[in-house]
Amino acid sequence: MDRPEWRREAARNSLDRLLPRLEARYEKALADIPVRWNLFYNRLNREWERLFMYLHELYGWQYDFFYTLEQVLDMLIRYWIDRPETMHQLDEQREADPLWFLSEEVVGIVLYVDLFSDNLSGLRNHIPYFEKLGVTYLHLMPIFSVPRGENDGGYAVNDYRAVNPDLGTMEDLFQLAAELRKRGISLVLDFVLNHTSDEHAWAQNAKTGDPEFLNYYFTFTDRTLVDRFQEHLRDIFPTVRKGSFTWNDELQRWVWTTFNSYQWDLNYSNPAVFQAMAEEMLFLANQGVEVLRLDAVAFIWKRLGTTCENQPEAHTLIRAFNAMVRIVAPAMLFKSEAIVHPDDVIKYVHPEECQLSYNPLLMALLWEALATREVKLLEHSIHHRERLPHGCAWVNYLRCHDDIGWTFDDEDAWQMGIDAQGHRKFLNDFYTGKHPGSFSKGVPFQFNPDNGDLRISGTLSSLAGLEEALEKQDNYMIELAVRRINLLRNIQVSIGGIPLLYAGDEYGVLNDYTFLSDPLKANDSRWVHRSRKRWEAGEDLAHTDTLEWRFFHEMVKLFKLRKQSPALRNGGMELADTGNPHLFAYIRDGGDQRLLIINNFSEYAQVMRAGKLKASGMRRDAQEIFTQRTIPAGENLEIDAYRYMWIDISGQ
Ligand code: GLC
Repeated sequence: MDRPEWRREAARNSLDRLLPRLEARYEKALADIPVRWNLFYNRLNREWERLFMYLHELYGWQYDFFYTLEQVLDMLIRYWIDRPETMHQLDEQREADPLWFLSEEVVGIVLYVDLFSDNLSGLRNHIPYFEKLGVTYLHLMPIFSVPRGENDGGYAVNDYRAVNPDLGTMEDLFQLAAELRKRGISLVLDFVLNHTSDEHAWAQNAKTGDPEFLNYYFTFTDRTLVDRFQEHLRDIFPTVRKGSFTWNDELQRWVWTTFNSYQWDLNYSNPAVFQAMAEEMLFLANQGVEVLRLDAVAFIWKRLGTTCENQPEAHTLIRAFNAMVRIVAPAMLFKSEAIVHPDDVIKYVHPEECQLSYNPLLMALLWEALATREVKLLEHSIHHRERLPHGCAWVNYLRCHDDIGWTFDDEDAWQMGIDAQGHRKFLNDFYTGKHPGSFSKGVPFQFNPDNGDLRISGTLSSLAGLEEALEKQDNYMIELAVRRINLLRNIQVSIGGIPLLYAGDEYGVLNDYTFLSDPLKANDSRWVHRSRKRWEAGEDLAHTDTLEWRFFHEMVKLFKLRKQSPALRNGGMELADTGNPHLFAYIRDGGDQRLLIINNFSEYAQVMRAGKLKASGMRRDAQEIFTQRTIPAGENLEIDAYRYMWIDISGQ
């Protein structure tokens, strides 16, 4: 983005004009905190120019732009004054160590509060469980007030300032955040910023025909414009309904609803929407949230004649939010949820935009490699697509609350001799168990008969073959499935970035089909991996020789080893050439430690030849970290079916 001289000057002039007025307005509150004000003032000076520039790009053409600037500045001061003392302290701590989240010590878990512990106060009792597991990052799925009945698993928000009463109150959330922080765990929440529910106060006001609030959303009195937009849009939930617009009887208008008909897209071309949502965001920051997951970011800006995804203004908007957070609540980070083409995913990741991002490409390609037993597409894509700007990290996940979509690049596939469309069909057949010899028990999600698109639901364990193996009571199959699961978890933990565990996967939870008898859930197969099943023995963790226990302890061990390995701090990942189509290997380097990590994606033992080991940096005998075995240099190395090794080649 260009920063012409006139913009700098304009930014400076407007701050010089506005700030004294606002300082006078808040004189009383500021009198008590002169030292801190200095800190705020420095941050404001540092970030203002770019904030001004973004706002100017988005709203500079409006006659009352100066008013928008004043409102935004006023908001920054208000939320900074309201920020609790403990959060001010955290801000200072994080500013002294801004890259804390790149540490090998950071590992995460994500869960639904109601499914995991009924409510927020129940969750507090489980903190020791998180500590045993070793997680330091706790993402709670949406916990805000939502419509009774369907609410897209909490992604249709009625009120960003009210916790769903079934789960607790804002005060409970605040207390929980404080308690977690004391125990070294960061609270992560969703910010559902593309849409509100149709029951949100703004939507209610819009429904009365109030023009101020109609302008919070996209509504149309006739189909002409709707049709022109619709031409270029894709259907996100095609089995639920066609098109991105919903007719509203009360309003006698079409409403833009990208997701479900009760999720109304917000109109960010209206600066009032920007301001209103920024307030909600800063309010959440002040509740103690350390990472905000920005939901569905790809969709937040619309432009006629385009797919209305990944528009340049979507980035400008997030950068403007980012600048505001850097000023008021610099302890808070953004995580982008953009499940789109890999070229677009990466554009959201930048220290001035989202410091963290889900890594849907790695996720999809790990499953791809598990199905094919070959790692060429994984290697090729990762090789040229995984590098992030300094100061950013991937969040690596195997499963989450959503489906799996095959979002690899067609050209990457083509270069590996793979026909992308055919391959997606194969993967869908494989993961729904249709392909002969498949081990998987995935469930189809959102089949679109118009273009054949399909995505996959299912838990880590069911997708990786455990459900089928247990049904058949076949010990060999069970063993293979267990190894597959651990193999994927190993890569998730060691390849670089924050590993994010989907609760239940730590002990191998299987698909839960009870959702089919609930009319509110039956048409959304994602509920198959959103289970209420509990691992009863889990909490006391007495040694039992169950599969659950084995999974749990393997996870704990992996997390522990990660935390003891400075090489696994984020950054510095190079792929190693194994010379074997089934082996996926990489070198991690950092803090005087160098690890060669090798993963076997085949159910047969595989060999990495001595020459390849040498070329990958193993020049002398080395130790394998899990087994403490010595790996002799100059010899071929055999890696057992679906096993992995961490070879310590430090100093070689
Ligand atoms: C995100 C969520 C998904 C939800 C959608 C709409 O993609 O992960 O669960 O349906 O946004 O909010």
